[in-house]
Amino acid sequence: MIIIKNIKGLVQVREKSPKYLSGAQMQELPVLENAWISLKDGRIYDFGSMDNYPENDAYEVIDAQGSLVLPAWCDSHTHLVYAGNREKEFELRLKGATYQEIAAAGGGILNSAKTLQNTSEEELYQQSAARLKAVMHMGTGAIEIKSGYGLELEAEMRMLRVARRLGETFNIPVRTSFLAAHAVPESFETSGAYVAHIIDEMLPKVVESGLADYIDIFCEDGYFSLNDTDQLLGAAAAYGLRPKIHVNQFTAEGGVALGVDHNALSVDHLEEFTKADLTALKGSETMAVALPGCSFFLGIPYTPARRIIDAGLPLALATDYNPGSAPSGNMNFVVSAACSKMKMTPQEAINAATINGAYAMGLENEVGSITKGKRANLIITENIPSIGYLPYSFGQNHIKEVIIGGQRLNSSN
Ligand code: NIG
Ligand code: FE
Repeated sequence: MIIIKNIKGLVQVREKSPKYLSGAQMQELPVLENAWISLKDGRIYDFGSMDNYPENDAYEVIDAQGSLVLPAWCDSHTHLVYAGNREKEFELRLKGATYQEIAAAGGGILNSAKTLQNTSEEELYQQSAARLKAVMHMGTGAIEIKSGYGLELEAEMRMLRVARRLGETFNIPVRTSFLAAHAVPESFETSGAYVAHIIDEMLPKVVESGLADYIDIFCEDGYFSLNDTDQLLGAAAAYGLRPKIHVNQFTAEGGVALGVDHNALSVDHLEEFTKADLTALKGSETMAVALPGCSFFLGIPYTPARRIIDAGLPLALATDYNPGSAPSGNMNFVVSAACSKMKMTPQEAINAATINGAYAMGLENEVGSITKGKRANLIITENIPSIGYLPYSFGQNHIKEVIIGGQRLNSSN
């Protein structure tokens, strides 16, 4: 048992955790001042005010010395399992080439797929484990990981097995999405032909393996059409796989409404966003997910958070950690960028990166708030003046310690 005492503010404390927070609710970030919290069997056991501190010799005591404690980040959209990097494409972009031009010339996702197909499962695991460890030390306590750099059955399964193994090894909740429809391999003439192949040859085997929790597709001009998306999501629904889709990154053509029609858990990117998209999301159970790290790195628009939240909708934040459009899994940066660039308040951004992120990967009962019984996934900050100081002092690390599943991370783990 661990007890943390002398906490200046226990942030995101909820007796009962809401499923997600929408619109004006996102501004409410409950804080218990001058608090303690105890952890047992990897879960949050109890918390309260220091006025009622339960002295008990059985506890390992951590003295927070006036710092803040908040739930670990919930990163609901990543491609953390990949091989190699795309540094060269980054330099091409700096010289003026666009992401789409590089992809059309055989770079981009197909480039990463080539590298991954030639990488052994063990090597892929090692590269990915190093990334996961790094993001856990930056405060991430639950994560979604996609396939999508295999583009053929065996390599896609390899990615999903690695993702599952990461979750077990690091004792962190990992949700997986099957993203074979990420780019069209050269061996297929059309996106439709490849989608038919995914539906007939890959999907049944992936479902049978139990390695995928969700279905994903890159619904975008030059990648997969609305019709491809409709076909794939329809086929996946028959197996009970719910969609979490890439949509509106470069163009807005109705993919959001299509995702909502298919009861998507989330629609992610939304850098382009129309009135029709907003209308489609209203009254749905679909979470909008913004990925400001991608906007930053590619120099594309930021998702219009204010329009979404001010319309009363929920919004989640995630990193999109991947080698092409967002080679960073740092949720602290994402929260900062959401404030500076998307004009979210610190309270909204923290809600978006915790409770709403948890919902966007189906983990709202497990993580995302300081609630008794939830996983003991905590960030202990350094002695900072306020919660707003986290996004304000961008690019700096104010995390003193991270606890995941009740275990204290230190330099050796
Ligand atoms: O979310 N847009 C599609 N997929 C990724 C990028 C993948 C890549 O470039 O390797 C994304 O941005
Ligand atoms: Fe992505």
